[in-house]
Amino acid sequence: MTEINILSRLKALSTQAREIFSTINTQEQLADFEIQFLSKKSEIGQISKNLKTCSPEEKREIGQALAGFRSEFVEAFAEKKEILEAAALNEKLREEKIDVTQQFPVKHGSMHPISHVQRQVEQIFTSMGFEIADGPEIESEWHNFDALNIPASHPARDMQDTFWISKKSENPDENFVLRTQTSDVQIRKMREHGAPIRLIAPGRVFRNEDVDATHDAVFYQVEGLLIDKNISLAHLKGTIETMLSQLFERETTVRLRPGYFPFVEPGFEVDFSCALCGGQGCKTCKNTGWIEFMGAGMVHPNVLKNCDIDSTEFSGFAFGFGLTRLAMMKYGIGDIRLLSSPKIEFLSQF
Ligand code: FA5
Repeated sequence: MTEINILSRLKALSTQAREIFSTINTQEQLADFEIQFLSKKSEIGQISKNLKTCSPEEKREIGQALAGFRSEFVEAFAEKKEILEAAALNEKLREEKIDVTQQFPVKHGSMHPISHVQRQVEQIFTSMGFEIADGPEIESEWHNFDALNIPASHPARDMQDTFWISKKSENPDENFVLRTQTSDVQIRKMREHGAPIRLIAPGRVFRNEDVDATHDAVFYQVEGLLIDKNISLAHLKGTIETMLSQLFERETTVRLRPGYFPFVEPGFEVDFSCALCGGQGCKTCKNTGWIEFMGAGMVHPNVLKNCDIDSTEFSGFAFGFGLTRLAMMKYGIGDIRLLSSPKIEFLSQF
């Protein structure tokens, strides 16, 4: 191409570039423009490259025209690039904006049915002046059995199939079990505080049971203990009737049948009038009108002696009921295994 032709081509390219540049609105269009007019591979780039083969006269003329082109577009290009980048960033921020007032649906958990009943039971007993006590789940053989008037040779030990943690000594203080009953807390608290004393002790107990719809190997009991002067079985009956009537929100009576527990004398099995049918007879109470509820009795003098309490001055009652079974009764749960299962459909009903 001759110098004249190159100069008129540069002029045409300038006009074309100006037109295109004025219509650029996006970063993509700007990138295309760069390729078409400013890159080494563009026509302008090629003309610059070939400049070295021109005569000094041509170099001067064409070089000036090229410099004019660059000074017009290189700076304008940088400015436009900045504007378009800022606009793109703004757009991105607008899309990403965080609405701090936005409410997200939060899934709330719910309280386990056993915890529900435990809280209600605790509330009722504390309103009657009982304290809430706690004891260890890994318990010494002595607290779980011997102190409760169940020495190693006693057949009553067979009533509770026990998980032993260690049994290597003749000394029951040195052997440990997963406690089979909450009655161990009676011993711990009487030895700690003496008499008078009034407490309930809800907690987990463990027995090597065959699991079925009404028996579990891990379940909850509530122990009750009241030691004072002139305490009789009437106090026990009144306390339990008050508790059940408040829990089931209907008048509930209890009956005592003779029962054997080595740590009480006399001992009883306690039934309550079925809270579902009011004692008329239904499926839940197997048409008897009564529900078997717990073991209870007057604390045996040997137990008081083991806790350094004078049995000629003080007497009292103790009881122990299954909190897990009470929750089943209250909520009409047919299978005890549901209570230790992680089934959300079941648990979210409470
Ligand atoms: C006792 O455990 C005595 N410590 C209760 C007691 C305390 C008597 C104070 C006298 C004085 P028993 O083994 O019967 O007793 O258990 C008490 C309650 O625990 C039962 O009435 C029942 O409701 C519940 N229970 C017993 N075994 C199971 C089991 N495998 N699964 C669920 N609940 C159970």
